[in-house]
Amino acid sequence: MTRTSPNGPAPGRAGSDHANNSSPSKKPKAIELVALTGAFASVAAALHEQGFDDCWDADAITRLLDVPGAFGLLAFQPGDNARNGADIPLGFVLVQAVLDEAEINTIVVTPSARGLGVGKKLLSGVEKRLRADDVTRMLLEVAIDNEPALRLYRGFGFAEIGRRKRYYDRRDGQKVDALVLEHHLVRD
Ligand SMILES: CC(C)(COP(=O)(O)OP(=O)(O)OC[C@H]1O[C@@H](n2cnc3c(N)ncnc32)[C@H](O)[C@@H]1OP(=O)(O)O)[C@@H](O)C(=O)NCCC(=O)NCCS
Repeated sequence: MTRTSPNGPAPGRAGSDHANNSSPSKKPKAIELVALTGAFASVAAALHEQGFDDCWDADAITRLLDVPGAFGLLAFQPGDNARNGADIPLGFVLVQAVLDEAEINTIVVTPSARGLGVGKKLLSGVEKRLRADDVTRMLLEVAIDNEPALRLYRGFGFAEIGRRKRYYDRRDGQKVDALVLEHHLVRD
């Protein structure tokens, strides 16, 4: 995603596969979305750690949410009330809107819930919110070798409009290009 993280230089890598203690072991029966507020910042930080090499802690996420035009959505699997089960966080997305444009700052899904439609659900939620705010263009950056993310974005209608050479610094010293993708929100 964006090169500049709230804590300094950036991510760019679809990353580590830490297990989540309370992660779903199979396709969630329901995926629900809720506004990502500061109250969920530590939940989001734990999810972020499961997807990227760099660390966005709860304070950093709160600071990003405090920027005018910023918002986030948190996806979760509702807990089973009959069993007193807790909701299980599945992923989140952070967006920054300015006038009629919005940039996806980051999106991540917990490893055990990937490939189950959580990413698509988060992007759909973002699109719905942006349409309501009269935003007409979504933008993002993605590492050229991040196949799962490219598949998600292309399937969602994003198209390539540019390339930033050697944009991401990997931990191993490698520099990786970013693709700039855009998606137009056509008015209904
Ligand atoms: C990228 C990411 C958010 C995708 O989330 P997700 O919940 O797995 O995505 P979805 O299940 O909604 O899948 C959307 C599409 O991508 C495909 N896809 C997802 N993961 C895939 C994988 N590992 N390999 C191949 N295809 C994949 C799905 O099959 C689906 O395609 P379809 O519409 O043709 O069925 C997730 O892989 C992730 O958190 N990665 C680490 C963090 C990251 O790289 N974020 C993006 C930074 S730019």
